Amino acid sequence: METRIDEIASGIFRLSTFVAEAGPKGFTFNQFLVLGDQPLLFHTGPRRMFPLVSAAVARVMPPERLRWITFGHYEADECGAMNEWLAVAPHAEVAHGQTACMVSLNDVADRPPRILQDGETIDLGNGKRIRYLDTPHVPHGWEAGLLYEEGTGTLLCGDLFTQLGDGPALTEGDIVGPAIVAEDMFRSSSLSPSMGATIRRLAALAPRTLALMHGPSYRGDGAAALDALADDYDRRIAAPPAISPSPPAG
Ligand SMILES: [Fe+2]
Ligand SMILES: [Fe+2]
Repeated sequence: METRIDEIASGIFRLSTFVAEAGPKGFTFNQFLVLGDQPLLFHTGPRRMFPLVSAAVARVMPPERLRWITFGHYEADECGAMNEWLAVAPHAEVAHGQTACMVSLNDVADRPPRILQDGETIDLGNGKRIRYLDTPHVPHGWEAGLLYEEGTGTLLCGDLFTQLGDGPALTEGDIVGPAIVAEDMFRSSSLSPSMGATIRRLAALAPRTLALMHGPSYRGDGAAALDALADDYDRRIAAPPAISPSPPAG
């Protein structure tokens, strides 16, 4: 496996590792490095991928300079290597919303996490400023939250728009259709009544770039793509898939 590096917006680097064995067409695992006076990593990569991901970061900047370790929600691909990063970057802090800190990170992070309030911003310096947004249960996990980089208009959108296979680092093509195919297959999202509203709140940011954790980054009308995704979830919530009942016991 190798980790490819591409600058998908000014000063935002996508580190992408394609795992051919994952799923029917393989799957990309992407981390995003936001450069600034206080560099930020969104997604740590799984613990076992740390040698690959840290070597990729080292091609862009000294890993020990990392200041912020962030991610969408508490799963291995999002944050499995969190403590490895805390060990190599002595000034780094894990930062996440109140729920993630209270439920998991206060216990599992080797240093106390920094709690971010919904809508709170951190000025990373050098024109980079990130805003934290609570997105409970979107796409899954009650602790879920995302980051928006205001300077470049980039939404670090985690598992939203997850798609199968490998592809370009950056596309202006359709990302909604492939996300619908993947959701049909994995059913990884927590369908809940507030899902559409949560995604439309992200659309209101009118992002110019969407940085997908599993798929290419997208440049274009981010609001339209998010609204279309919200519409698809509304459709699923209105007509949830049938679950076949278990056979009677005995
Ligand atoms: Fe996830
Ligand atoms: Fe993920």
